[in-house]
Amino acid sequence: MSDPILQETRILLGITGGISAFKSADLCRRFIKAGASVRVIMTRSAAEFITPLTMETLSGHPVYSDMFDRRRGWEIEHIAFARWGQVLVIAPATANIIAKMAAGLSDDPLSTTVLAFRGPIVIAPAMNTQMWEHPQTHENVARLRERGAWVVHPGSGALACGEMGAGRLAENEEILTTVMEALRQAKVSGQSSESLTGKRVLVTAGPTIEPIDPVRHLSNPSSGRMGYAVAREAARRGAEVTLVTGPTSIQTPGEMTEIVRVRTACEMNDAVQSRLADQDICVFCAAVSDFAPESAAGAKIKKESSGQSIELKLVRTPDVAKEANKSRQPGQFFVGFAAETDNLVRNAREKMESKGFDVVVANEVSESNPAFAAEENEAILIGRGGNQEQIERSGKTEVARKIWDFVEREAGREF
Ligand code: C5P
Repeated sequence: MSDPILQETRILLGITGGISAFKSADLCRRFIKAGASVRVIMTRSAAEFITPLTMETLSGHPVYSDMFDRRRGWEIEHIAFARWGQVLVIAPATANIIAKMAAGLSDDPLSTTVLAFRGPIVIAPAMNTQMWEHPQTHENVARLRERGAWVVHPGSGALACGEMGAGRLAENEEILTTVMEALRQAKVSGQSSESLTGKRVLVTAGPTIEPIDPVRHLSNPSSGRMGYAVAREAARRGAEVTLVTGPTSIQTPGEMTEIVRVRTACEMNDAVQSRLADQDICVFCAAVSDFAPESAAGAKIKKESSGQSIELKLVRTPDVAKEANKSRQPGQFFVGFAAETDNLVRNAREKMESKGFDVVVANEVSESNPAFAAEENEAILIGRGGNQEQIERSGKTEVARKIWDFVEREAGREF
């Protein structure tokens, strides 16, 4: 798959030592075919699996694999490479390089380049299943994700070590798609309008989960996509963004000032309350559970001893937006969401009053616009003074852009 975004793009391709390193040759070839320039950085163990000569021939440039190569003269190569590249792709990425990156170590050409590099990083892990599933590897990958790295998940199947399971390098097609997406986003954020510079923005996102017992919970299908897009767009415009997020399975935006991970409505409320005083703008995008089990069982409720039914008493959870409105400071600007199945505008206006929103993003939830857990959304933006704007069905990044344009207009001189 080729895309204009790859044309004339400068790609740093890092290769580490795994049996799938041979696949990097094809990846390099595909980048070049799509019009990109590639410079290859290899670790010492990568060179045991695929020769630097192969990569030199394919990329048309010397491979960087020795930090102290005297023949290269006095050039600080990792800095030069880091400045040159627009995206850094590490495929395959071993558990070792992932751990080094997470810890900030820099003892070889690749890890030093990683530290010096400021653009988007895409990693495609590949390793033995046990290593991939080790909690330390999970922690390391999560840390890199938090910092904004794009992780192309390994696939499952028969591994070279004879085991079955997750750990196989993702298909090159998938790596390529992720690189294109990373470049697209970097391009968008590179065109920052900086209109929110100096503003502090808090965004709630995702669902909350309310435990029934240690292995079960109540929740809803919110993916967090809309809230993450709103948070990312605010950061792109120069704001310092705090993202308070319920559990999601999508990539958290890397450009946040703070990411606070919560599980329940109560935790979300506490996280918002303790940060509220510092904020200029709050966007309540989370799909907070309105009810939670009165108390969560301490041990798993056994079906064998529960008969044919169990009773669950549900109690109201805090309304995060309403509580924030109670302790609101003068000059703060609140944006809320209203998902309604009927009487959209009327219900949204009521919500605006009861929760103190200055702007409401009203979504009609229907079969044709599920809103929750979807890639796209359509909405009506409503301002306190009566201004209204329809957003046609579009991707959530585009919707987020229009929301911020509207919010900035509505807030007018206050900003
Ligand atoms: O009342 P309803 O849930 O429809 O209101 C939606 C708006 O209120 C959203 O902005 C949502 O983030 C916020 N909300 C909240 N805490 C709740 C329920 C909703 O912050 N417990």
